[in-house]
Amino acid sequence: MQVIERVAELAGALDAERAAGHGVGLVPTMGALHAGHASLIERAARECDVVCATVFVNPLQFGPGEDYDAYPRHLDADVAAAEKAGATLVFAPGPADMFPAERRTWVHVGGLGDVLEGASRPGHLDGVATVVAKLFALVGRCRAYFGDKDYQQLVVVRRLVADLSFPVEVLSCPTVRDVDGVALSSRNRFLGADERAAAPVLFRALRAGAASVLAGELDPAEVASLVVAIVEAEPLVTLDYAEVVDAATLEVPEKLDGELRLLVAVRLGQTRLIDSVGVVVPG
Ligand code: PAJ
Repeated sequence: MQVIERVAELAGALDAERAAGHGVGLVPTMGALHAGHASLIERAARECDVVCATVFVNPLQFGPGEDYDAYPRHLDADVAAAEKAGATLVFAPGPADMFPAERRTWVHVGGLGDVLEGASRPGHLDGVATVVAKLFALVGRCRAYFGDKDYQQLVVVRRLVADLSFPVEVLSCPTVRDVDGVALSSRNRFLGADERAAAPVLFRALRAGAASVLAGELDPAEVASLVVAIVEAEPLVTLDYAEVVDAATLEVPEKLDGELRLLVAVRLGQTRLIDSVGVVVPG
């Protein structure tokens, strides 16, 4: 297991792997690795000869007053967890090396990056797109694994790859959940016991929304109101948004059709949580 902390060293290391005939898998993370991250690394290890997991708390994707400083950083534990899951290389650059003060370039994925999370956290998805573009440029030809828990991020990254012709194949991996349905997240550790007990409401509400679509509801407003009502019945939870959108365009259709995604974002005390599920209109 190799750990690379210098930006200047990454591209050469992966070029050498490809020159040796090895296919490269990439799993970008912000660290604080849990079983959700591990599932991405494990899949990459099954499908690729070498797996580079990146651990970088990306300052560009945090807004003012968000939890950049508080975000958990435990590199030793992350390196151990990445190795256990099958990573062969961890890339963990420092912020000033990754984004020197003279950096001026942003990547903006129009439309897809402006709704939902983009509306609630202005600039967030630009920060994601910018760091992911830089990782793709450094890593080169690879298969890159992303979780569908961060569904909008996945759609934005797919668009980025198509629009800028990165030699990257994007693979999506299902959300790993606790037994009570709560999606694993590095931020769950910030929840108090009562907040953690309330957290299953997200998945419960999303499943009810998906079930209503499967039962024939075709009005997006009706489905969204059902999700909102279930979330708002939980007193500790403050709703940010609940939407049902076209899975490809992220737009709210007039009438539900084809592949959809139900997404919800809430605040539980100081902690912001997101979750989503996919559903296909029967028929
Ligand atoms: P992070 O939140 O650390 O997540 C890294 C990857 O793990 C993402 O692709 C995310 O969707 C996936 N993931 C997180 N929780 C998951 C779960 N419960 N089940 C399955 N996959 C899960 O997402 C980011 O970091 C950053 O925005 C990043 C892409 C690294 C850019 O900075």
